[in-house]
Amino acid sequence: WAIQAPYVAAINRLKKERNAVILAHNYMTPDIFHGVSDVVGDSLQLAVKAVEVQADVIVQCGVHFMAETSKILNPAKTVLMPDMEAGCSLAESITSAGIAQMREQYPGAPVVSYVNTTAEVKAASDICCTSSNAAQIVGALDSDTIIMTPDQYLAQNVAKQVPQKRIVWWEGSCIVHEQYTAQDIREFREWNPGTRIIAHPECPPDVVNEADFSGSTSGILDYVTREKPEKAMLVTECSMASNISDELPEVEFIGPCNMCPYMKKITLQKVLWSLHTMTEPVEVEPEVAEKARIAVQRMIDLSR
Ligand code: 13P
Ligand code: SF4
Repeated sequence: WAIQAPYVAAINRLKKERNAVILAHNYMTPDIFHGVSDVVGDSLQLAVKAVEVQADVIVQCGVHFMAETSKILNPAKTVLMPDMEAGCSLAESITSAGIAQMREQYPGAPVVSYVNTTAEVKAASDICCTSSNAAQIVGALDSDTIIMTPDQYLAQNVAKQVPQKRIVWWEGSCIVHEQYTAQDIREFREWNPGTRIIAHPECPPDVVNEADFSGSTSGILDYVTREKPEKAMLVTECSMASNISDELPEVEFIGPCNMCPYMKKITLQKVLWSLHTMTEPVEVEPEVAEKARIAVQRMIDLSR
């Protein structure tokens, strides 16, 4: 932290000069999360907050699809990405051709795409979802069959919550959450009795089955804040526990975690450079942005 302090001070000064705000995802490192961000949250919270931003500039501390979502919702604002290579294995797993293929296979079924997709994929979809509203969105759609892309595990976990629907899915996955196995969780529980195990719904369904609770990153925070277990294992990205542990000193966070190499591309140094040089601005073709905005806005309206 002492080493980072000059960066934090310089970023906070530059934010004022540029009339900028920093939107940071829960998986950012604690120096970004606690030191320089104006809004923190899960994917849905960041998208909702992006609509309310008054500043001229948004610096997106998260991955590329999140910056695209902010730009789609705020076409007149400058949205900066501190590292354009901060991608996502889910977003990379599907293109609009994949959406067309699913529509051909399941004619008439609406396409619900996770926000972890490119603007082009969102534009080809009927509605978006995040892990905090996926079951609600799927349950509200007027169709027996629903296409969910691109996260096969989120789709399978939602299928258990909304059994009245037939859910079909694309076979994408998150490289962070797919690494956990049910066997890992069972062994961990055996060796650490009394630990509350909390899994993100991007984990395979057998992992979620072994957990005490499953929810989006904000759902995880709410659960731990409400329940205050003595010990908790978060089956998700490593920064999640680091970021929330400060406010929850009574909870001991234990257990292994997995790092997202994409999220970790965003560093304090790159955030400073981004604000200093005003790079890299995220652009989305207006025609694509307009269609994608409809899918994102439908999701926001349905989750109110
Ligand atoms: P949420 O913060 O919406 O739970 O998403 C997790 C994630 O993997 C984002 O990339
Ligand atoms: Fe994508 Fe998974 Fe990383 Fe989130 S944690 S950005 S879903 S690869």
